[in-house]
Amino acid sequence: MNIAVIGTGYVGLTTGVCLASRGHDVLCIDSDVAKVSALQSGHCPILEAGLEALLHRNLQLGRLHFDSSLGALEQYSDLIFVAVGTPEGDGGEPDLTHVRHALGQAAASAGPGAVIVIKSTVPPTALAELEADVHRVAGSKVLSFAVNPEFLRQGMAVADTLHPERIVIGVTDAEARNRLLALYAPFAVPVVVTDPVSAMTIKYVANSFLATKISFVNEVANLCERLGADVDAVTQGMGLDGRIGPKFLQPGVGFGGSCFPKDTVGLLHVARSVGYDFRVLAAAVAVNEQQYKVVLDHLAARLGSLQGKAIAVLGLAFKGGTDDTRETRSFPIVRDLVSAGAEVRSYDSCVVRSRLPDDILATLQESLEACIAEADAIVIANDAPEWKGLDWALVARSMKGTLIVDGRNTLDADLVLEAGLEYWAIGRTSAGKPLPAAVPGRGSQL
Ligand code: UDX
Repeated sequence: MNIAVIGTGYVGLTTGVCLASRGHDVLCIDSDVAKVSALQSGHCPILEAGLEALLHRNLQLGRLHFDSSLGALEQYSDLIFVAVGTPEGDGGEPDLTHVRHALGQAAASAGPGAVIVIKSTVPPTALAELEADVHRVAGSKVLSFAVNPEFLRQGMAVADTLHPERIVIGVTDAEARNRLLALYAPFAVPVVVTDPVSAMTIKYVANSFLATKISFVNEVANLCERLGADVDAVTQGMGLDGRIGPKFLQPGVGFGGSCFPKDTVGLLHVARSVGYDFRVLAAAVAVNEQQYKVVLDHLAARLGSLQGKAIAVLGLAFKGGTDDTRETRSFPIVRDLVSAGAEVRSYDSCVVRSRLPDDILATLQESLEACIAEADAIVIANDAPEWKGLDWALVARSMKGTLIVDGRNTLDADLVLEAGLEYWAIGRTSAGKPLPAAVPGRGSQL
């Protein structure tokens, strides 16, 4: 098919590159001229596993194109995906300025019979008006309108796009339905075909459910701490129930990123706008706002006043494997430590200096060695794999103090303790103590 993607952020760029790798002829459009010219020469602006290699290959094969204008859109009108940003507006509701603009441009420039598909996350309550706008701009030109939300994780965006667990499409006519089903047939995964409002609701509630699961397990970890229960054993025991499942039960300093924080607040706003108070979700958001403080509480409990204490914060991106710091929990940790008078040094080998706010940049160190040298304590603030591979004996020699606060429950406690360091993680009361061996098959004998 001849496919256009408007917007070359994480979602749009990955979608365009992956569809080209599936053999389609793809035009990616972005108003940022500098970004377009970088992409044309094969430079990938984001850190996303496998994306740059696929970008190169498909540019070479001549089936991937980048442009800052919509001049050629008409020839790429089998499917036109709109994947522009929907930042959180002042009142918490998503700001649809970019979406409206892109849809208007697409409707004006698309060839007759085009299917315009919203990939951006848009409140279900806004869809009827957006669809009406598309048809108004198109005038007598017949266009189809659809939504096709994405579920990709940053850092895994290529794998998630090429091997999704499911596809969700929301359509109002047979043309859009058939074209999207044809696009996704080779993926051989379940496809949920529904109306646009239901499709976008799926996107919001899926992210909200996962976010709620994280806030729930964070509260469980906080409770384990007080009970003397071990959260690793507790989540293992919970997760073996197939109805609960083992995934997304990793306690930590809370969820960040471009999706969960925005989509949870966005859905609360949508619910309120139709007269519904989504109390479980509101609680999940409130828990997340406070959760990072467990790290500060523990530092204060162990070190007393943080005034003048040298604290190394490892990991600024909202999770490992990405350079994205949107809504990262590391920033409030750094800021609260600075407010408490600590001498904060931060380190992250992935983040781009120019994208950091000034106050965080002021704490950034060039090297891991500089970050941890003479530190009173180290805080692990994301789950980047490099922290797990640290030589703890070397770390112990470099630090002044001995305290390692694992805000993502990501380290091997034994390795840290063997180096003579102190280890604390959220609700991990058995850290460093041998657990009784599991008994395989025991349950079936009972
Ligand atoms: C998420 C969804 O997974 C994806 O389906 C959706 O389309 C976009 O939002 P992403 O934001 O890339 O993807 O990150 P994800 O890996 O889901 O993690 C989100 C946040 O939750 C991170 O801050 C992560 O550290 C945290 N998290 C995740 C936990 O604290 N515990 C967990 O068990 C899992």
